[in-house]
Amino acid sequence: MLKRHDVIGEFKLATVAETRDVFEGVFGGGGAIIAAKAPGRVNLIGEHTDYNDGFVLPMAISHGVTIVGRLREDRKVRLRSLDYGESAEFNLDERYDASGPRWSQYVEGVARTFDEEYDGEIRGLEAALTGDAPQGSGLSSSAALEVAAGLLIDQLNGLGTGRVEIALFGQKAEHNYLGVKCGIMDQFASCLCREDHALFLDCRSLEHKHAPMKLRDEVALILDSGKSRGLADSKYNERRAACEEGVRILSGALPGIRALRDVSETQFEEFSRLLPDVVKKRCRHVVTENQRTLDSMQALLKGDMERFGALMFASHDSLRFDYEVSCDELDVLNELAEESPAVIGERMTGAGFGGCAVALARRDGLEDLKAYLSEEYFKKTGRRLKIYETSPARGAAIVD
Ligand code: GLA
Repeated sequence: MLKRHDVIGEFKLATVAETRDVFEGVFGGGGAIIAAKAPGRVNLIGEHTDYNDGFVLPMAISHGVTIVGRLREDRKVRLRSLDYGESAEFNLDERYDASGPRWSQYVEGVARTFDEEYDGEIRGLEAALTGDAPQGSGLSSSAALEVAAGLLIDQLNGLGTGRVEIALFGQKAEHNYLGVKCGIMDQFASCLCREDHALFLDCRSLEHKHAPMKLRDEVALILDSGKSRGLADSKYNERRAACEEGVRILSGALPGIRALRDVSETQFEEFSRLLPDVVKKRCRHVVTENQRTLDSMQALLKGDMERFGALMFASHDSLRFDYEVSCDELDVLNELAEESPAVIGERMTGAGFGGCAVALARRDGLEDLKAYLSEEYFKKTGRRLKIYETSPARGAAIVD
């Protein structure tokens, strides 16, 4: 189905006022109506490390989800999507049956998670929503939806839930209601990122630091390959299972470990012979990616963008050859980027199997670079590349 806004950049996010107009058209005016916004994210480095208790370094982008809503007296939730021109409805007092359209299942998962966490005290609501992060592109449009819905539910019910908990509830919803065993990175980034900062997150302790990232001579680019992420969810769960198997086997030799986060590169070299080949490759990616993410944070703090870029390229190779979550299109892009002097670093971003790449490029020569990448990418894949300049945006907020 055609989505109203499936392209960043060509997209005009329905403003809060427009969303509110639709809301009032569908549900009527009056009462306390509030709006929440939550951004998507692009992950700079630290891929497939979050569910291994590891480190990630994402930043929020200026595209995401807007939701406008009002509390109801009963426990019904009525939703309207501007993008799909569709409505959905469920009742918190009835069992979840996954019968709603996919977009509504995210909101339903979050509402039900809040209800479980708050002992059945959540009231129903009606809401209209719209999004402008491309879907299925690895930019976390679903986490943005979960966080926006979470913030709205929290605010309407006057709960005062902390930001970290809102992120965790979003992740829980995805596990329990959408069947994707995702890590915490996307919801955390959507909830807690700051403008002009990347977010360094320890996914075990949830300690995080905001690393200043005000780009001057460089620019961050999102490169949308146009290849949508086919069977990404099932392959994602498979990768996760391979990591768990690796931990189980390695813990025979390294009894203290709980996750791949606990295995150093040296230990891995010593004991990787215990692992079956495929599991070994998967684990090698995670162990080396954790180190790259720690190194990238240091490079960012020192302003050493060349080092940062080199680590991005190394990350892509590891995702391509060891974790095997890249695809031809993303590899073509990576090779084109690697041979372009204006590119400092580039890698696929998000879960993979299609979607977007992220690049750090020099501002000088940017137009030539864009033209070169677009032309060559089209020649090699027959697909149109979409390129968007981006800078670190703020996390979710209640807006007027
Ligand atoms: C998806 C998941 C995240 C993370 C990335 C891969 O975006 O939602 O939790 O695992 O893939 O780094």
